[in-house]
Amino acid sequence: MPKTWWRGAAIYQVYLRSFADGNGDGFGDLAGARARLPYLAELGANAVWLNPWYPSPMADGGYDVADYRDIEPVFGTLAEAEKFIEEAHGLDIRVIIDVVPNHGSDQMAWFVEALAAGPGSPARERFWFRPGRGEKPPNDWQSIFGGPAWTQVPDGEWYLHLFAPEQPDFNWNNADVIEDFHDVLRFWFDRGVDGIRIDSAALLIKDPDAEPDGQDPYTDRDGVHEIYRDWRRVADEYDERILIGEVWLPDQERFARYLRADEMHTAFNFDFLGSPWSPAELRASIERTLATHVPLGAPATWVLSNHDVARPVTRYGRADTSWSNDDRRDGTATDLELGRRRARAAALLAMALPGSVYVYQGEELGLPEVDDIPDELRQDPMWNRSGHTVPGRDGCRVPLPWSGSAPPYGFSTGEPWLPQPAAWKELTTEAQETDPGSMLALYRAGLRIRAECLGDGSLTWLDLGDGVLAFTRESGLTCVVNLGPAPVALPPDREVLLTSGPVDVDGLPADTAAWLR
Ligand code: NOJ
Repeated sequence: MPKTWWRGAAIYQVYLRSFADGNGDGFGDLAGARARLPYLAELGANAVWLNPWYPSPMADGGYDVADYRDIEPVFGTLAEAEKFIEEAHGLDIRVIIDVVPNHGSDQMAWFVEALAAGPGSPARERFWFRPGRGEKPPNDWQSIFGGPAWTQVPDGEWYLHLFAPEQPDFNWNNADVIEDFHDVLRFWFDRGVDGIRIDSAALLIKDPDAEPDGQDPYTDRDGVHEIYRDWRRVADEYDERILIGEVWLPDQERFARYLRADEMHTAFNFDFLGSPWSPAELRASIERTLATHVPLGAPATWVLSNHDVARPVTRYGRADTSWSNDDRRDGTATDLELGRRRARAAALLAMALPGSVYVYQGEELGLPEVDDIPDELRQDPMWNRSGHTVPGRDGCRVPLPWSGSAPPYGFSTGEPWLPQPAAWKELTTEAQETDPGSMLALYRAGLRIRAECLGDGSLTWLDLGDGVLAFTRESGLTCVVNLGPAPVALPPDREVLLTSGPVDVDGLPADTAAWLR
């Protein structure tokens, strides 16, 4: 592979709990994932990103980490993780892991020590412990999952948690915190990990005591960049290891700061992910993205989904096609056929754009969001913390269907931790593998062509009228996406390489994409 493998990579996101279960307990694990590595190679993945695999009480799907240097026993062992890395490398697949530096778990040794050590102790300095204001918490900050961002401990002090109470925030002014995370990065780089996805990357620096200073009290404060300059120095001690930021910031100028040459290599494109199915808005998002990245020499990323957002076939089948975190109540009218057609076109768009592309497990199968998970089985803390008004993110985390005609569809020999819909018998990898019109066939074909002539680089827009996004890449490949209501004629004298749906005599139908050469 070229020296800069990550600039144009196709990166497959594995949500380990729901990918493949190797031991029959109903939870996905490393044994299951190792067995499915050939599937990822066949699909055309250049890298996998695994959500947190560390020991965790699972208050937030593993984003509450109890030990950053080990593996959750439900997932396997450290030795199996090393095997996973080795076997992935053997198939030319790089491995990216999730590091969660904003917060730990209330079960981690440091936090247990801090509770025991009491007010004013150095152990409490690693977190944000404060006295309250009488009966009230130290300030009025609200948790991102709902409810107050402070929880009181028996001795009367309160600690800060921007997410769930089980996820105490670290104090990034503390030398122990800074040094320990450098050590965690080296621990995993030493084991062959190729990249780090940095969770909640813009939130690390905060000051709950500060008077208002014009900056947000905890999002994107200027001091956060010092942390990533240090992390970059650690990554650069190794060959070709990368940092990828989870940076949700609407302001592109602020976002770009994280991609400066001495900070992160890439960051997730949430601007594109959040864009509605509209030619003007998608084009504006693509142009904004390129305008942000090109001057920095950083490659863009193209993301349609992940474990935090509604699945594309569902989102694009709703009246409001933009991403919205709480737009998930049962009963939201959804036209899945329309959504699927658009998701297929969106996939060819994302794969054709210059930079790297992410595929969240199940996206390549066209899985819909599962809207009807029984309330008592919902696990996302958003559900409880919102007083059961926000259903949360379980609907995009349902275990994958691999084979057979009934649950557990080859995912497990036991009962999956979330129930799989009966309709998924048509969406198993087994069912799609033999169907040339399937979503899986489209992703495989798209990623194969992409590996030959797309990825990193630039584009030139073509004008095919309102409602159409069309551009040519350096290799000569042209991508045309029809987002308008009527069919459009394709440019003449070009070979059609791949389309997201049938093309008829009138041209490229609505909500359809084509790749031409
Ligand atoms: C972002 C992760 O993607 C999400 O799943 C998690 O709940 C929060 N960060 C908190 O770690």
